[in-house]
Parts: sequence; C-alpha cells; structure tokens
Amino acid sequence: MQNKILRAFLSGLGASLALSIAVAQQASAPEIVVAPAFTAEQLLAPPGENWITNGGSIYNQRYSPLKQINRDNVAGLKALWRTGMGSGTNPGQSGQAQILEYNGTLFVSNGANDVFAIDVETGRILWTYHGNPDPKAGTPIGKSNRGVALGDGLVFVGQLDAKLVALDQRTGKLVWSAQVEPWQNGFSITSAPLYYDGMVVQGLSGGEMGVRGRIKAYDAKTGAPRWTFYTIPGPGEKGHETWPQQGDAWQHGGAGVWQTPSVDPELGLIYFSTGNPGPNLFGAVRPGANLFTVSIVALDAHTGKYRWHFQQIHHDIWDYDSPNPTVLFDTTIKGRKVKALVEVSKTGWAYILDRATGKPLLGIDERAVPQEPGQATAATQPYPRGDAIVPQEIDIVPEGANLLPGTGDIRNHGRIFTPYLTDQIMVKPSTTGGANWPPSSYDPTTHTLYVCATDRISTFKATDPGQPVLNRVYMGGGFGQAEANDRGIFAALDVTTNKLVWRQSWREICYSGSIVTAGGLLFVGRSDGRLTALSSQNGAKLWEFMTDAGVNTTATTFAYQGKQYVVVHAGGGVFANGKRGDGIWMFSLDGKIPSLALGGAPGRAGFGPGGPPTAVALPVTTRPANAEHGGDIYRAACVPCHGATGGGGSGGGASLLKGQSHDAILGTASAGKNNMPAFKSVYSADELNDVTAYIQSMLQQSKQ
Ligand code: HEC
Repeated sequence: MQNKILRAFLSGLGASLALSIAVAQQASAPEIVVAPAFTAEQLLAPPGENWITNGGSIYNQRYSPLKQINRDNVAGLKALWRTGMGSGTNPGQSGQAQILEYNGTLFVSNGANDVFAIDVETGRILWTYHGNPDPKAGTPIGKSNRGVALGDGLVFVGQLDAKLVALDQRTGKLVWSAQVEPWQNGFSITSAPLYYDGMVVQGLSGGEMGVRGRIKAYDAKTGAPRWTFYTIPGPGEKGHETWPQQGDAWQHGGAGVWQTPSVDPELGLIYFSTGNPGPNLFGAVRPGANLFTVSIVALDAHTGKYRWHFQQIHHDIWDYDSPNPTVLFDTTIKGRKVKALVEVSKTGWAYILDRATGKPLLGIDERAVPQEPGQATAATQPYPRGDAIVPQEIDIVPEGANLLPGTGDIRNHGRIFTPYLTDQIMVKPSTTGGANWPPSSYDPTTHTLYVCATDRISTFKATDPGQPVLNRVYMGGGFGQAEANDRGIFAALDVTTNKLVWRQSWREICYSGSIVTAGGLLFVGRSDGRLTALSSQNGAKLWEFMTDAGVNTTATTFAYQGKQYVVVHAGGGVFANGKRGDGIWMFSLDGKIPSLALGGAPGRAGFGPGGPPTAVALPVTTRPANAEHGGDIYRAACVPCHGATGGGGSGGGASLLKGQSHDAILGTASAGKNNMPAFKSVYSADELNDVTAYIQSMLQQSKQ
C-alpha cells in the first residue's frame, strides 16, 4: 500500500503536490509559530529543537546535539512524507537550499527562487512566495538558492536578481524588498542571508561578471541599509595598494561572497571568505596580490568595518575561490585555549586561524612557486602545514593530453599553482575544487571537520578578455575538464592538528553539504538521489535512502514534540548533473515509506550524467531547425557549463567552438557523454535540433 502511494507520488511531478495534500490526513491549517527577534545567545546555541539559522548556529558548525536517531537505530529510518514544490526543476536550476525549521514549520527556497512554508507533521504547504526573478538574471552560474534566514516574524531570501526580500512568516506576503544591486550590472545572490543583531547580512555574487564584490547589511525590520563592505578596497583604503594604481582594474576585481557568514558575538566579529579575482584567468591586467580576493575576512559585525584578513591565494589565476562557509570553534591547540576559525577552499586545504587576530594557528608557510610573467604571477603562495583533502598533482596523464616537451599540457606534474598563459595546461585540484560551496560540518566533541570535496583535473588557457562589458562574462580564458574520471572525496579532518582522521572516495563528485549529530551520524547526499547516514567515527555507511532526484544540498535535523526528524530537498542541479526534482523528503523512525529501489537509480536513467561515450542513435526530427528557439534552450540549460558564447563556463563544459559536425553535436546533446548530461529526456528531438542549429550559428559568429 505504502509503495503504491509512493509510486503515485512519483508518477507525475505536477500531480505530486495535490497527492501529498490528499495523503496529509486533511488536517486543518496549523498555526505558524512566529519567531522572535532571535538573540545572539539563541543563535549561538547548538540547534537542538529548532534549526533557525543556515549554519545550524552562527558558528556554522551544522552540529546537532540530538541523538534519538543514532548509530544503533538509523537503519530503521524511513520517509514520513514527500511533498512536491511544483517548481525549480528546469535544466538550468539547482536545488541547493538547506531547510530551516521553527516549532513545527519548515521554511525552504528552491532554484526558481520560490519560498515555501511547510507543516512538519503532514508535509502540507502552508504558503508559497514566488520570487519571479528575471530569466536573464544570474545565468552564468546556474539558477540556485541556498536557503532563507528567519527572525522577528520574517523570512528573508536573496534572489538571483540581486533583490533581498522579507516575507511575513505567517503568510508569505512581501513585507519589504531591497534591490541590493542592479542585476543588470552583473550581480546576483545565491547564498542564504544571515539574521543577526536585528539586521540581515547578504553577500553578492558576480565575480565572473566584472563586478566589484561586496557584502551588505540591512535593518531586518524595515529593509533600510545599515552598512556595505567592499571586498575590493577603493583608493586610500587598506589593500588598495595590491591593485594597479593606474586604471580601474579594481572596479572589476571580483571577490564575490558566496556563503552565509559566521559570527562571534563576544568578539563582535563576522566572518566570511571571498571568491576569485576578475578576470578569473587573465592576471596580466591586475598585477599585485589583489586583496581581498580569495581571502578570509573579519568585519566588525555592527559597523561592517574591516578588522583583519588572511589571503589564501595571492593573485589567483585558477578560479580557486573560497565558497565553503567559515566554521568557528573553540578548542585547545598546543595546550592553549583558542577561539579558532577554519575554512576549506578549492585548493583542498583547511586554513585554520585564530579568529581574534587572523593569524594561522598551526602554521601556513609562504613558499616560492613557478612563475609566468605574462600572468604577473605572485612570487609565493601560502601552504598550510598538515594534510590536503584532495590530490594536488596529476599522478597519471589523462588520455588525450599533449606530452611534447616544452609544449605539453602537463607541466610541473600538474601541481597546484602551476602557471599558464595561452598554451592549455592541466592542473589538480580543479575549478570545482577541492571543496566547493556545499557546507562542511564540525563535531565539537571530537574537534573533527567533515568536508565534501572533488578530485578532478581542470584544463586552463588564458585569453585577453579586453575591456569588461556590463553584465557580460569577464573570464579571460577558458577552463574545462580533462579526459579522466572524477572522484568524490569525503574527509574527516582533526582541526587541532590539521591531519586527516579518515577519508573515502566516491564514484562521482561530492556535491552535498553535511550535518553531524550527537547520535554519531553524518547525513550527506549523493547526486544519484541517495541521502546517506555515515558513522562520524569512521565513515561506515549505516543507512541509505533513494529519493527521486539528486540530493545536492544539506539535510536538516530537528526535534518537534519530542520526536527527531531529518529533512532534505532532493532537487538535483546543474554542476553535479543530478536528476532534477521538486521533492522535500521528511524522515523519521516511525516513517512508513521505504527507499526507492537502489540500482535502478533515477539519476542514471533520466536527466543525469551521460556516462562513457557510446554509439548514439540520433533522435528523429520532424521539422526544420529553429535556431532562435535553440538560443532560448541554450541560455536555459547550457550556459552554466559552456558559457554564453560557447567558449566554456563555470561548470567546465568543453568548448563548443571546435567545429563539430551537426550530428556530433546533436548526438552529445541527446545522449550525454561522461560529465555532459543527457538531454533526451528533457527536450524533444526537434528542440535538440534547434539548440544544435544555435550552436552552429555561434560557431559561425566566432569565426567572423
Ligand atoms: C553540467 C555541465 C554541462 C551542461 C549543463 C551541459 N554540458 Fe555539454 N558538456 C559538458 C562536458 C563536461 C562536456 C565534455 C564531455 C567529454 O568529452 O567528456 C560537454 C560536451 C558537450 C559537447 C561536445 C563538445 C566536444 O567538442 O566534445 C556538446 C555538443 C555539448 N556538450 C552540448 C551541450 C548542450 C547543447 C547543452 C545544453 C542543452 C549542454 N551541453 C549542457 C558539460 C555540460
């Protein structure tokens, strides 16, 4: 019977919402309990009953003291309900939001920038807000939203169109809206806002669009601006000397903020790390260290004034930005009690600092690195002492690499910090990382940090991007993936020594945040649709549950009326190629819905990774191609990986400008190949033919 209900749920995504309501025992609408203006103390407490802020607490530890669900009984965890949101499943959209919970109500956002309040016990949707960002906003990075903030009766969300909105927590009605920056200038928002001290703090993305990065605070009640901190200092400000003094390179210097900051109320400081410089891959136009790009930054929480910074990469040319959230912890290192901070970056290293001063706690050495004058490379780079989470050199040459001496793709063993110019080279880690945005979790009882990371080879090549143009990608080159298999790496790191405790590899990239509980469990998702529980002690898999779409976000756990729950959004996403879905899946020990079948994984069968190259039967078309319509599809589904002009994008897709035949393009678009998703279940043969015609027209233009 249960299976029947489940099959009915999954039979049509559009119908699932109605069905879940039907199954929801026809309860009358429960009252939404209004959240107070949370105090620093409340925001600092580990999330026992409620999960009220994106990081679990404002230390961003994502640690739950709950242990009703534990190593002994997690095998019996089942789904209680699945609710479909009815949006966020387009090919360009990703489901990346961690869900908040307060006294029986969930608050969640999705890639369409829609926000939902959902009843914990029944899965019933209590209200919906439609963000409706302009379809042209936020394109180069895919459409995602990493969650909401809660406080003082309001739900806050940052939209792709760089709007920050406050919704009435009871009704979802708009209370105030602030256009943080014009999206037409290249800005967008993907990270969850921070609610703290009666204000909402929001970082902006746009580091690949030629913007000057910034983070802003607003009055939570009224939406009135409180402070702005520019992540690229202006003339006369500290750090401006690390930019060319002639011209306006700093005005386009990047350093987006992709994450929810952490806060130490006692020190009165707020912490975050920053993204790549602009242009990402062409360093010649910005000689200098380029502060505060790829840096951990501390600000006075009240005023937004600079307090300290630590730059993780000087003058980055590898897109090694730092999207992973900063985590605060108090511990004893070398016999001394310290207030510490850790952030793991795309380099695969953990940067462990004294959070009062910004000074390394375990040693970070400046070492000489290979030089490329054409990129104005930095003489030295910081090497943290301790273990890297991912390989930082290429052990075996991938198929197709050019090995001729002097002109080879692999130089310096493909090691981290190998420079390049106009000849393509290959390097590890990749532009995906190391660690990317999926949040790490930290267990304060064992001082262990859990990190989701990727082992992949990126190719790099620089080209002069010319003058930056408003709202156009400003990359200065292209990057892609080598012909080699990726691995996911999930690692446990002792942050008092910076040594690995354990580490395991996965067949596909790791692209889900984690939470850790006092029950000894780690919950982490998989792109194939599974949510898993691992032993936090040794990584042993104790439970897995197949949902209906990629789990590419972070689960949440909380207790309501004495019962512990786990909830996650199975939405899939662009860069992990997970099958798209709109489902919120709620789990409990008294849940009745069993896992979908493993093995017949929907992620593989439907819209998901294409798998190894195979002979492809070309789809049969019924009408002539319409390149204009193909352009719409291209912008919706292909730009995040292949870039607006086909030369390569953030997702490391191959250049489409190599002059492939019509059939080759159509075949790959239809059946996928390796990390290139298969689109045959998303678009009709005629539509894929349209997009093929569009790619061919781009090729024509690039030749002119
Ligand atoms: C998740 C990222 C991603 C998305 C989204 C994506 N691609 Fe790709 N694409 C790739 C990768 C990676 C490759 C390289 C595959 C390989 O050779 O291993 C690729 C290769 C290709 C190729 C072959 C190019 C060559 O010269 O080998 C074509 C054609 C292509 N993609 C078309 C498309 C179209 C059309 C869309 C949108 C409908 C699209 N891609 C969306 C990642 C992506």
